Amino acid sequence: MDKITIIEYLSLYLDKKYTNITNMANFVAIIKEMIEGLNWVGFYLLNENELYLGPFQGKAAVQTIPLGEGVCGIAAKKEEIMVIDDVHSFKEHIACDEASNSEVVLPLIKDNKLIGVLDVDSPRENFFNKSLVKQLESAVNYYLTIHNL
Ligand code: SME
Repeated sequence: MDKITIIEYLSLYLDKKYTNITNMANFVAIIKEMIEGLNWVGFYLLNENELYLGPFQGKAAVQTIPLGEGVCGIAAKKEEIMVIDDVHSFKEHIACDEASNSEVVLPLIKDNKLIGVLDVDSPRENFFNKSLVKQLESAVNYYLTIHNL
């Protein structure tokens, strides 16, 4: 039998009938399990002008990030995916886990409303190639279909 895909796995656990926190918790667990080479996967959620830490897998992390600061805050403000191949050469980067060397942040936008971002870190430099970013984008798009506004 073929290996289960990320979307198939997500569809087994995520559902609109559960709270967003419950769905986000299973989402990050599934991403961390299915994609090898990640040390941190988590949500930062928008509240007014800042992001606050949501469900995550990995080491304890910074609790709040102002919009426009850090990779997360910049991606949220621009509403654009940001891929950072080497976090040490990106001066706005906020370090949480010293093991992280590359990072991708994907904004979550539903019905033109910014909900927050998904932050994904790897200990490997240049880890987030186009195909991996596309995979994460599809997973986020799937998540958005079941997110309750
Ligand atoms: N690196 C992020 C901060 C969050 S931790 O990586 C979990 C940033 O620069 O926004």
